[in-house]
Amino acid sequence: MEGFDPATSFGPDVAGSYDDAARGDEAECVAFLAELAGGCAALEFAVGTGRIALPLAEQGVRVDGIELSPDMVDQLRAKPGGAGLRVALGDMSTASMTPRGYGVVYLVFNTIFNLLTQDDQVRCFENAARHLADDGAFVVEAAVPHAWVSRPSHVHAEHVGTDRVLLDVARYDPVSQHFERNHVELSNAGVRMGPIVLRLAGPSELDLMARIAGLRLADRWGGWRREPFTAASGKHVSVYVQA
Ligand SMILES: C[S@@+](CC[C@H](N)C(=O)[O-])C[C@H]1O[C@@H](n2cnc3c(N)ncnc32)[C@H](O)[C@@H]1O
Repeated sequence: MEGFDPATSFGPDVAGSYDDAARGDEAECVAFLAELAGGCAALEFAVGTGRIALPLAEQGVRVDGIELSPDMVDQLRAKPGGAGLRVALGDMSTASMTPRGYGVVYLVFNTIFNLLTQDDQVRCFENAARHLADDGAFVVEAAVPHAWVSRPSHVHAEHVGTDRVLLDVARYDPVSQHFERNHVELSNAGVRMGPIVLRLAGPSELDLMARIAGLRLADRWGGWRREPFTAASGKHVSVYVQA
């Protein structure tokens, strides 16, 4: 997408309204991660506004984070408990948090796709592996690409009101594996754009990235409640451990 800059795509506007639309899976995600952490510390890649990190910390898990957007971190800091979390500002494919040896490193909500090249996604797996304890686990939650790209492009009316229309406009390029999407809001106040570019990768490609990083797939579920992963699953929750 011409002019798209991943470094500024979660700026003040997006960060300020990020928590308005709750995803609804927070409790089950936190329960899954707390059980896996088993009393050890956790590190969230792309911690954002702390949607998962803060309730996980409330369960008694020490949670640190890495995040690219200072505006998202500002939102996290403003929430109860947010001032106490250690967050490194940086790119999750390269940034370090010390001391390492985390019981769980996790990357949820399709955010592996925010890295726009295969090399960067591999680097992200390698960085996760570097931060894990010997018996630690890297958890990745991501959509199954074919659930999103059944058509090469689409325009979907997400909201149609008398004074506001919300359109989801998207197209997929199978060469770059880039899924370009814009949420376009039309209202009497004007036109507002919400662009995002993601590099989609299927579960088997992610497994190979894990292998390059010295990890192996230990479990794959269709959701946080450990639903079976099947041909009908729209997403996967994958747990990688040191090979
Ligand atoms: C969809 S949000 C997810 C935030 C949080 N993990 C959650 O589940 O609510 C994506 C987040 O990834 C961050 N992000 C994107 N690219 C990143 C990168 N290369 N390194 C670290 N954070 C990144 C964005 O700034 C944004 O906060």
